Amino acid sequence: MIKILTVIGARPQIIKAAALSRAVKNNYSDDIREVIVHTGQHYDENMSKVFFDELGIPNPDYNLNAGSCSHGRQTALMIEGIEEILLKEKPNCIVLYGDTNSTLAGAVAASKIQSPVIHIEAGLRSFNKSMPEEINRILCDHVSTLLFSPTKSGYDNLLKEGFKENNQPPYSFNNPKIYHCGDVMYDNSLYFGEAAEKNTTILKDNNLLKNDFILATIHRNNNTDEPLRLNALFKSLNKIALENKIKIILPLHPRTAKLLPVNLSTELYNSIKENDYIKIIAPVSFLEMTALEKNAALVMTDSGGVQKEAFYFQKPCIILRSETEWVELVKCGAAKITDADETKIIEAYNYFAAAKNLLFPDLFGDGRAAEFICGEILKYIS
Ligand code: UD1
Ligand code: UDP
Repeated sequence: MIKILTVIGARPQIIKAAALSRAVKNNYSDDIREVIVHTGQHYDENMSKVFFDELGIPNPDYNLNAGSCSHGRQTALMIEGIEEILLKEKPNCIVLYGDTNSTLAGAVAASKIQSPVIHIEAGLRSFNKSMPEEINRILCDHVSTLLFSPTKSGYDNLLKEGFKENNQPPYSFNNPKIYHCGDVMYDNSLYFGEAAEKNTTILKDNNLLKNDFILATIHRNNNTDEPLRLNALFKSLNKIALENKIKIILPLHPRTAKLLPVNLSTELYNSIKENDYIKIIAPVSFLEMTALEKNAALVMTDSGGVQKEAFYFQKPCIILRSETEWVELVKCGAAKITDADETKIIEAYNYFAAAKNLLFPDLFGDGRAAEFICGEILKYIS
């Protein structure tokens, strides 16, 4: 029996961790014991607790309650707490997801005391270091022992950064092993896809009809914090909704909710509020989000996870950023990058509204990435 210490903190990590916890419970309960640390980076009930309840994730063994503060302070609080827990629990490895400050904190705390780091969602790059996430993911990858990339391009990025394909065990942060293994988020979308429509009423509650609405999310820091960008994004949504008489539902991240009245012009803010086609709601549960994604005509988002889920459910996606780590989605024509540029956003909407026979090839594995990852951890970590 080995002990793994899973660190989660932000919404998408809690969701991703559900896939591994499920694989441990169903297939590896005699071999792997999971201790869960919640950093407290996300703490509102609809950003955290709702996912534990809905996705059957065991309650965290520890909560560091780091909360919201500056990047340095938030990460430092987490590092201190994770180090203490690592020293007490003495796990065989630490398991980290994605690219948030919680990921970075886990990577620093564990690597400094030479506890092996397992990085799930390794290798992804935006090649834009002004994103806090790009710094977090690069630093985490470079102290990891087992690196699981969900995409071929992520795996290739690691090779370009000097990781070797042919390292032999025993693996360590000086001799890491890299994988292209599929996406744990795809595991979840397959697993929960059916329940999402059966067990939620989100479509009915919001009077939404299949393929007759747009699902939008906006939370990326440069979009929320830069008034010019936020105004351009909301101006585009307003225009698309009014001109096409199409509903847009927008489950709003708390970061955006706080900044909307501050950074939008009063005129636009009022116009959005008065626009009957735009429905802004609080963040929804994963099953509700999945039901929205499955039934939307189109998705507009700056979220990494939502881009991919749109693809899993064969929905075109407008990416409200200047680049994406999920380059495959754009390459196969199912997504378009528009940045926060009103003209490009409207052009992309018109393009997808008329597009037929878009391609959504199988790019993200077979829905069993989490089981594969558990098997590899057991093989190489002792
Ligand atoms: C973080 C991640 C980002 C990820 C996103 C997922 C980093 C650097 N960023 O961004 O990569 O895409 O999570 O959602 O780690 N807030 C609340 N309640 C909460 C959580 C946050 O009100 O439960 C508000 C606070 O005002 C806070 C702000 O949202 O200051 C930002 O939260 P934070 O966790 O710092 O970053 P995110 O923008 O959520
Ligand atoms: N999500 C959710 N409810 C919402 C918005 C998003 O459950 O109101 C889910 C979404 O389905 C995906 C994940 O949260 O699985 C994406 O998280 P987010 O957009 O916050 O972060 P990112 O993926 O950009 O890091």
